Amino acid sequence: MARKMSSTLQVLVVSCCSLLLLCAPAASAGDYPPTAKGLSYGFYQRSCPKAETIVRSFLKKAIRNDVGLAPGLIRLHFHDCFGCDASVLLARTATEASELDAPPNETIRPSALMAVAQLRALLDDACSGAVVSCADILTLAARDSVRLVGGPEYRVPLGRRDGATIAARERVVAAFPPPSSNVTALLAAVAKIGLDAADLVALSGAHTLGVSRCISFDDRLFPQVDATMDARFAAHLRLSCPAKNTTNTTAIDVRTPNAFDNKYYVDLLSRQGLLTSDQVLFSDGRTRGLVGRFAVDQPEFFRRFAFSMVKMSQIQVMTGVQGEIRTNCSVRNAAGGGT
Ligand code: HEM
Ligand SMILES: *[C@@H]1O[C@H](CO)[C@@H](O)[C@H](O)[C@H]1NC(C)=O
Ligand SMILES: *[C@@H]1O[C@H](CO)[C@@H](O)[C@H](O)[C@H]1NC(C)=O
Ligand SMILES: *[C@@H]1O[C@H](CO)[C@@H](O)[C@H](O)[C@H]1NC(C)=O
Ligand SMILES: *[C@@H]1O[C@H](CO)[C@@H](O)[C@H](O)[C@H]1NC(C)=O
Ligand SMILES: *[C@@H]1O[C@H](CO)[C@@H](O)[C@H](O)[C@H]1NC(C)=O
Repeated sequence: MARKMSSTLQVLVVSCCSLLLLCAPAASAGDYPPTAKGLSYGFYQRSCPKAETIVRSFLKKAIRNDVGLAPGLIRLHFHDCFGCDASVLLARTATEASELDAPPNETIRPSALMAVAQLRALLDDACSGAVVSCADILTLAARDSVRLVGGPEYRVPLGRRDGATIAARERVVAAFPPPSSNVTALLAAVAKIGLDAADLVALSGAHTLGVSRCISFDDRLFPQVDATMDARFAAHLRLSCPAKNTTNTTAIDVRTPNAFDNKYYVDLLSRQGLLTSDQVLFSDGRTRGLVGRFAVDQPEFFRRFAFSMVKMSQIQVMTGVQGEIRTNCSVRNAAGGGT
């Protein structure tokens, strides 16, 4: 009797699920965080229907020529997303400092800024003027960069507006965690923008790509090697960074520096994380579990990464009639104008 009931129940559950599956959107609910008010997945469907295709095909070619463009664009989006309003792109004017002048600026690749300007021009040609915001261009460019070097495919809601003031954001940028941060400091920094420990571990996985300058980690080599660092890895790093303050760069993910995969977490397990802020994710009990899981389960890492990227891309966005759509991503439309 009990067995019969449970099998009836099973049939019921199975048929309900397949019904749900039929009705579900392309991505299953749960894989995506809630959509911020004013953003939507079909935002440019009428005003610029080819927007996503244009960004994808441009980057496909551009990244084939320069694989470093992918980490460049992903990092640019992250640095913008203490507010996701493209203010990271604003060039310095005579009267005010901009985000490009804040300390993390030195590592923004010029090629990434150029790609944004080229995308601005391509999208304007296709859609009779500045319809797609610079903040959305950054969001799409980061999304496509991830995919084009082997990472997960995911959808992003669009409709961000570009910020027309930068004063408030400078305070946030000043709170950017240094690479020498411990987990307490990292958690505190990301909590300010609504991200949690799982987001921190997943998003740090972007360090599967790109490079770092020696000065961001050479406190781990000199005067003596950090006790948590694998000795062979330290010897390898000394080839790129033979002394303190050397102006050289080295791959962040020693295993597969140009592929978006879960090897970054394998690095951490092997005590071959480059930055202190990377390696501590494995030494601290609050984040170690997730590092271990991502190291053995790439699909799980990809799911969590996509989730956290979509979440990050919606932090304090401006929508509707707020801000502006910049015609030149590096300058505000009218100095002093907008909100
Ligand atoms: C939250 C703590 C984080 C810290 C402390 C941090 C720190 C750094 C540092 C110091 C570098 C090397 C810069 C240099 O000296 O050249 C770097 C590079 C990079 N970061 Fe992060 N990062 C963090 C989170 C993130 C997140 C959330 C993303 C993206 C989702 C990201 C994406 C990247 C990428 C792609 C690079 C390589 C850039 C390139 O090769 O051009 N980082 N990060
Ligand atoms: C980065 O900021 C420093 C000051 O913090 C400035 O001297 C430098 O010119 C800036 N670099 C770029 C590329 O804007
Ligand atoms: C973590 O870093 C903060 C700020 O740098 C420091 O005050 C704190 O003592 C550190 N915590 C631990 C447990 O090392
Ligand atoms: C920079 O790093 C490369 C390897 O990544 C190395 O061959 C080169 O000698 C280094 N240059 C300096 C000045 O340390
Ligand atoms: C490296 O640079 C820092 C600050 O720029 C300076 O305080 C330090 O003395 C330098 N160290 C060496 C070994 O040159
Ligand atoms: C956009 O503004 C920057 C900074 O003022 C300038 O260098 C660039 O030429 C401008 N681009 C276009 C297409 O006007």
